[in-house]
Amino acid sequence: MQVQKASYFARKDDPVPVPAHKEALARCIDRLNESRVLAGARNPKIGKERNRWSYCQGYDWVMGFYSGQLWLAYQMTGNPALREAAQLRRPQFRAVLEDRKSRDHDIGFLFSLHSVADWQMTGDETARAMGLEAARALLGRFREEGGYIQAWTPVGPQDRDQARFANGRMIADTMQNLALLHWAYRETGITDFREVAMIHADTTRRHLVREDATSFHTFLFDPSTGEPLRGETHQGYSDDSCWARGQSWLIHGFANCYAVTGELEFLDCARAVADKAIELMGETSVPVWDFALPADGSHPVDSSAGAVMSAGMYLLADVTEGEESEKWRVHAHRLLDGLLESCDLTRVPGAEGLLAHGAAFVPAGRDDAMLPYGDYYFMEALMRSLGHRQFFW
Ligand code: GLY
Repeated sequence: MQVQKASYFARKDDPVPVPAHKEALARCIDRLNESRVLAGARNPKIGKERNRWSYCQGYDWVMGFYSGQLWLAYQMTGNPALREAAQLRRPQFRAVLEDRKSRDHDIGFLFSLHSVADWQMTGDETARAMGLEAARALLGRFREEGGYIQAWTPVGPQDRDQARFANGRMIADTMQNLALLHWAYRETGITDFREVAMIHADTTRRHLVREDATSFHTFLFDPSTGEPLRGETHQGYSDDSCWARGQSWLIHGFANCYAVTGELEFLDCARAVADKAIELMGETSVPVWDFALPADGSHPVDSSAGAVMSAGMYLLADVTEGEESEKWRVHAHRLLDGLLESCDLTRVPGAEGLLAHGAAFVPAGRDDAMLPYGDYYFMEALMRSLGHRQFFW
């Protein structure tokens, strides 16, 4: 049985814990202990009204983030009720593995935070097997021509527009899903998992990241030849804008790829997109939802982008040294403190989530909301600030 124990403040050069971050993390855990009772087996999807959650109905790309929070809180406390709440969700994840039409590239988010976390925290063999099955499904989305993992699944000939939109497309968000492949390689030694993750990351670096280190949200290839066609947006302001959460996925994703492979080209890419994000943030401490727009209060911010970016910069601080490491830490701190100052719901009685002011999909009207991924990365960033190093990526 492989049970990985939490290792707090394990290194000589670990940071001095910030009391405000310790206190905030304790409030997050208290909030989870309240919300898990309300939620039962349901997974939070979005909270727009009165800081109350609406829940996922069946498969949803966000369905693993609540499990991820429960596992982090379990790791911090050892409270068995948190472990049981995460494991209660297992049948829903099993159902995803049994329905090829519902799942897509986000299977990495789902299973890293649900099954891989379970395996790491409890040594449960069923959880490991589910994680490996999910990794094989993700591997099957690799398109040899073009060298990328296809993001979305066309729903069928009855919806030609969706098929046209889905086929041949890679997206920035997939960088986070690669962690499941790297984990599967470490577990099994099967090199396909690692190779596909490396090729996809390299294609992302060459096509989704622009020369000036801003990023496209998606990139389209001719699905039959793999010929690179053009960058386009899905959730951003415009095709040539820089969607803040997409940039944040790239920072965290490339930093993690470097952490698990040691390939310097991934570190350099993480550095470049992170430096660009710092430049685009200017004086702000919570990113505007798309960097093409002025950050003057006239456009929604995206706390989830801030949380992902902060966690990613702490990770960069961990994999670099000296002054450079300090630079990333300072910016990660600034982002985290921005969230604590203007988005923290853990001090708001009756709120069910952790962070306000997330922007799920602004062009579709889904802004100013609680988002389970914002909450997950908020906890991850707080824990990284405190020197914690066991995550499920
Ligand atoms: N992965 C979808 C999003 O970031 O909204």
